[in-house]
Amino acid sequence: MRIRAFDRADTEAVVELWRAAGLVVPWNDPYRDIERKLAVQPELFLVGESGGVVIATAMVGHDGHRGWVNYLAVDETRRGERLGARLMEEAERLLTELGCPKLNLQVRSTNAGVIEFYRRLGYQVDEVASLGKRLIADASPIG
Ligand SMILES: CC(C)(COP(=O)(O)OP(=O)(O)OC[C@H]1O[C@@H](n2cnc3c(N)ncnc32)[C@H](O)[C@@H]1OP(=O)(O)O)[C@@H](O)C(=O)NCCC(=O)NCCS
Repeated sequence: MRIRAFDRADTEAVVELWRAAGLVVPWNDPYRDIERKLAVQPELFLVGESGGVVIATAMVGHDGHRGWVNYLAVDETRRGERLGARLMEEAERLLTELGCPKLNLQVRSTNAGVIEFYRRLGYQVDEVASLGKRLIADASPIG
């Protein structure tokens, strides 16, 4: 797998990968999420490709205090090959290079498998309540 920055030509493949991975939810329009990321640190929007096909993604960001990763996904047929781990290593490398001291992640608390994946990579569950407030309502064309 070669890791590179997202290109607009990847859009449909990426949205399909997210949809298949269960990451497209009614309250997020994936196309708008892509456009927003292209406006802010687009170089941190990573895709993994193999044989010219997009097989993994990670949307990485640094807010000046913490780093974040969203939309981590590996093609269902390629799971268990450490590709997710490799993408996270690249995310950590890029954030460290930017001087980012800590990476935060949000995982649905019911998603035990993904929590275990992150634990294996050295992440710990922070005892915090995650709060959010929607500022722009999206109506997903897919959701
Ligand atoms: C989570 C995901 C990215 C993992 O990708 P992957 O390439 O299959 O994971 P890796 O092969 O890199 O696994 C790394 C380690 O985590 C473990 N692991 C991976 N998925 C796991 C699971 N569901 N349950 C338990 N352990 C898991 C692996 O066994 C491996 O352990 P090891 O270091 O002891 O060998 C992938 O399952 C996925 O795309 N899921 C759907 C989308 C999703 O939920 N994304 C997260 C949003 S928060």
